[in-house]
Amino acid sequence: MDRLYHVLEAQQFDIDQMDAVFSIAREMEQVVQHYGSNILNRRVMATLFYEPSTRTRLSFESAMTRLGGAVLTTESAQEFSSAAKGETLEDTIRVVAGYTDVIVLRHFESGASNRAAAVAGIPVINAGDGAGQHPTQALLDMYTIQREIGRLEEIAVALVGDLANGRTVRSLCYLLAKYEDIKIYFVAPEVVRMKDDIKEYLQRHQVDFEEADDLHDVARQADVIYQTRIQKERFGDRTTEYEQARGKYIVDRSVMDCMQDHAVVMHPLPRVDEIDPAVDADPRAAYFRQAHNGLYVRMALLRMLLA
Ligand code: NCD
Repeated sequence: MDRLYHVLEAQQFDIDQMDAVFSIAREMEQVVQHYGSNILNRRVMATLFYEPSTRTRLSFESAMTRLGGAVLTTESAQEFSSAAKGETLEDTIRVVAGYTDVIVLRHFESGASNRAAAVAGIPVINAGDGAGQHPTQALLDMYTIQREIGRLEEIAVALVGDLANGRTVRSLCYLLAKYEDIKIYFVAPEVVRMKDDIKEYLQRHQVDFEEADDLHDVARQADVIYQTRIQKERFGDRTTEYEQARGKYIVDRSVMDCMQDHAVVMHPLPRVDEIDPAVDADPRAAYFRQAHNGLYVRMALLRMLLA
């Protein structure tokens, strides 16, 4: 198995590496219960976030802290870092790399993490690059599917919502494509359908997928319903398109009633109105468990990169 260095895009992972991430993540659940470890003592992680985040930044910071490491952080980096003075991303990365052992970067431009990795000289983790990818989210999504459904092969996954701008679903498709007998349903409003690059990738890797428009129908077939937020920030002044997309597919009681007993609803969060809070109490609502899994998966990644 290749040693992990940067985490930039989901398709870089092979099954062996994913298995390693998931089995270390499982160990990390124990480590957290026993109040952490000192394995990353004196290691330093920088989180450099040019776009808003709650879960991703705090779970990375918690992960590093629980492994005994230290954290330097810039949220709102566009306003509060030297980017506000006109510094290039590359220069910022060169400087921050001198202070730390790993950089976790969230940026509004697709490809920003690759640019950062080219100059960093230390590992860079892509924590979301515009409408590009979000590979650590996809890893925690796969980990959640394994924990909830019990396997990663022979599963039917419905990806719902903003498939054009959502980076989490793009990364998730790349990871699902590594496994056998996967069926993917794309359920998206017309203006935000899945882009061709992902469909072509799935075709090349012989993954069975179809576009569907009846969420209730799909809910009867799926093991996982993966709902997503319409990414308002990517619409600019196209407010009519945003309004058209929003509200088209909502996971509510009627959708839950169609789902099989063993199936689950996932969502990378934050949600706006695409999942009715009334379904939170249903044991098949897995999205908060999914968010917690982010901690273990990010601990596993940091240990693999730094220990
Ligand atoms: C997602 C993101 O930032 O892409 N959030 C997250 O990291 N859990 C999804 C979103 O913002 O809708």
